[in-house]
Amino acid sequence: MSRKKLLAGNWKMHKTNAELSAFFESFIAESKGSLSSIDILFALPFTLLQRAKELTQDQNITIAAQNIHHEQSGAFTGEVSIPMLRDIGVTATLIGHSERRQYFGETDESVAKKMLACLAGSITPVVCVGELKEEREQGKTNEVLTRQVEAFLSATRDLKDLIIAYEPVWAIGTGLTATSDQAQEAHAFIRGLVRKHHGELKAESIRILYGGSAKPDNIAELVSKPDVDGGLVGGASLKPSDFAAMAIICAGD
Ligand code: PGA
Repeated sequence: MSRKKLLAGNWKMHKTNAELSAFFESFIAESKGSLSSIDILFALPFTLLQRAKELTQDQNITIAAQNIHHEQSGAFTGEVSIPMLRDIGVTATLIGHSERRQYFGETDESVAKKMLACLAGSITPVVCVGELKEEREQGKTNEVLTRQVEAFLSATRDLKDLIIAYEPVWAIGTGLTATSDQAQEAHAFIRGLVRKHHGELKAESIRILYGGSAKPDNIAELVSKPDVDGGLVGGASLKPSDFAAMAIICAGD
């Protein structure tokens, strides 16, 4: 089965609304016709979501949050719920990014709860997993991926359109990209876990993105691998020319 490539940008805690408008003006002009043959997603700070929806309404661009709370509403100061995202037309969110696991106490359990809330609320979850440097060095990559991925895969019988992002923590923001062989190996392993829990059809249709210092000069090699269905891009998604170049490369693959 051929899976449509997905290039996703993760802006983390960057940019104002004025910078957002300037970005989209350049990005849409520079990515030319490529937007019709791949899917594009931007995971943005909450303050940019509404304006981003307006700016991209005629484009094949999904606007996503970077986190959600699993409850619908309640006394959770500082949090944002799925109905609140739906209220402004947002249809996707990242979940369990390694920075949220590292700095904000996200666990495999909270990630599974958030995924279930997304599936129930018709929000597409982009669930992030990946091993630390020490875990790779100790040969524990598959063990860590199994724990992280099975925590959410085993929480439901119906995955709908969930997306998985494999982001080795040692490659995020470090300039150290996984080799395309390392990425392929991890992606095939994760797809095998999807197959085990949800069967062949789901395993073949689910998209698995690579993240960690992906940029214009390494994305072609990464997405040439059979199980790498696109990228989740931090730093290089902040520059319209870099991200547009990556979109054009992914569209041509
Ligand atoms: P990076 O970030 O591309 O800057 O390494 C990726 C991510 O954290 O999603």
